[in-house]
Amino acid sequence: MDDQVNHLTPAHPAHGNDSGAELYARAEADRKAFWAAQARRLHWDEPWQHVLDWSRPPIARWFDGGRLNVAYNCVDRHVEAGYGDQVAVHWVGEPGDTRDITYRDLHRMVQQAANALAGLGLRAGDRVAIQLPMIPEAIVAMLACARLGLVHSVVFAGFSPAALRARVDDARARVVVTADGQYRRGRAVPMKEKVDEALVDADSVERVIVVRRVGADLDDDTPWQNGRDIWWHDLLRDASDHHDAESFDAEHPLFILYTSGTTGKPKGILHTSGGYLTQAAYTHRIVFDHRPGSDVYWCTADIGWITGHTYLVYGPLANRTTQVVYEGTPNVPHEGRHWEIIQRYRVSLYYTAPTLIRTFMKWGEQIPARYDLSSLRVLGSVGEPINPEAWLWYHQHVGGGRSPIVDTWWQTETGAIMVAPLPGLRAPKPGAAQRPLPGIGAKVVDDEGRQVSPGASGYLVIDSPWPAMARGIWGDDERFRTTYWDRFAAHDDYFAGDGARYDTDGDIWILGRTDDVMNVSGHRLSTAEIESALVAHPAVAEAAVVGASDALTGQRVIGFVVARGEADPPTADDLRRYVAEAIGPIATPREIHSVPELPKTRSGKIVRRLLRDIADGREPSETTTLADPAVITDIAQRFGPRTDA
Ligand code: WTA
Repeated sequence: MDDQVNHLTPAHPAHGNDSGAELYARAEADRKAFWAAQARRLHWDEPWQHVLDWSRPPIARWFDGGRLNVAYNCVDRHVEAGYGDQVAVHWVGEPGDTRDITYRDLHRMVQQAANALAGLGLRAGDRVAIQLPMIPEAIVAMLACARLGLVHSVVFAGFSPAALRARVDDARARVVVTADGQYRRGRAVPMKEKVDEALVDADSVERVIVVRRVGADLDDDTPWQNGRDIWWHDLLRDASDHHDAESFDAEHPLFILYTSGTTGKPKGILHTSGGYLTQAAYTHRIVFDHRPGSDVYWCTADIGWITGHTYLVYGPLANRTTQVVYEGTPNVPHEGRHWEIIQRYRVSLYYTAPTLIRTFMKWGEQIPARYDLSSLRVLGSVGEPINPEAWLWYHQHVGGGRSPIVDTWWQTETGAIMVAPLPGLRAPKPGAAQRPLPGIGAKVVDDEGRQVSPGASGYLVIDSPWPAMARGIWGDDERFRTTYWDRFAAHDDYFAGDGARYDTDGDIWILGRTDDVMNVSGHRLSTAEIESALVAHPAVAEAAVVGASDALTGQRVIGFVVARGEADPPTADDLRRYVAEAIGPIATPREIHSVPELPKTRSGKIVRRLLRDIADGREPSETTTLADPAVITDIAQRFGPRTDA
């Protein structure tokens, strides 16, 4: 591997007018002035008085006193500057239908949608839940909310009715925006009836707006609740396409996005306007070296995750990007779908997740080889550690050995990219996120919060406030503090939950989560959340869930259950259905094992580490803390020797 790596030299310097080295130097010299300069690239209706107010940690205030409109920055100003004819979105539907939406089109749609939402009586600060497939209306709905100062909560379309309901209730959403159905793997599947199921007696919800996406491709008519439900196209048809954007405080809430933590209840991560948009636009510009008007960018994430928020909606649109948005799965109707789209639209910047790269590897290099991928200039990776094999394959078979790869580390909570190499600046290292971006202070520390030396491992922390940082957990500031800030409170550092190490050059390698959060195909899943879904089954007394290593998806979910009393152990299929209903199919355990007891400490805590050892095919280590070590020996025997892990 080292030989191959040594051949990789830095590609052309790639950050527009700023050299990467200059950016580092300027940020180093004066961090606040550096961020102020980034913020000035946006349009502000009122200037800020203070760049940063960190007097009440852990809630920062950035650009306090400044006022702006996020949607105006993402759409109107580009039209006003004469770029109305530039394509904002080349949209590709799964069945092959396409739409090219210019900034002028987007401007019209967002104004109409804003007028329509305002007409329903929504006021700044109200919450709107959005559960939509990857269609242009999803972007329009988010921007219309931003334009009105409404707080959106986008819920991944693959989440179950119960998961949607929990999010609607927690944020007390007044309106839900959804679709009649969605195309998944070549088939139209209903969505609206699931949303109805979610919203039975949901007392905060006044209106459900329904986008017609699949229409007659569904077997049944869309179920309808008169007085509550309204078609998106009816609502927009009656709305004016002129809407003056009002300005909002820099700290006005922009969105809530729920993410899994170490308890059963997802956290509503809150982001605000000015700082978030500043860092979203800055990182999108420098990490991808985006050049407006000439690049064609494609981020393959779903809008239901933070990557979709920051790198499909806010960052790229603030930077006047022309981008591809694809609705469907990568192998419908064939395994060359992504390469065909890159060839067709001459995509130059492509941002995806390691799991997908490993899937492409499995399908074979002969597939991308059939397409002209010479337009690609920078490749990105996000969501999980990228293994060197996948990195090299991506570099070779997608990037033609030319394009730099930016491995970007960040989280829902950080709002935007934090650690990533700048393309062309340093020799790339397959599998390393390398350095904090200019303006970001990230380091690896030991148990006491002291920075570790080159070559050593520890915890990744962020040591100074950053503009896109979360401003709390919706309705639970205490949980925000205890989850992220108490661990290294002595240093005021943010604890990311990831392990990391420095190599001897001082570059950062992300090692993965140190807590009970799993990462399956780049999606964050909580062991506790899945366990609580399993124990909701009447025949289950106890459950433990672990993430075992998986060559394709990074981790896979394995459940262990103890049946209740004399009850027959429930079948694995039955239990999987329980999890799919509580959370969604992405969370269903690959394997579920019925065991007589779970390994516990004397104080009754489940020791998941030992179950993970077994699931990974390792000998369980350090069983001395167990109340009864025989329990784990027994489970290990039931498992037998494993060769597939
Ligand atoms: C993991 C996704 C290694 C990490 C943007 C983090 C990564 C969690 C990388 C956040 C990367 C994200 N290398 N690990 N480049 N990017 N992660 O909130 O464990 O869905 O804590 O945000 O994904 O997941 P989230």
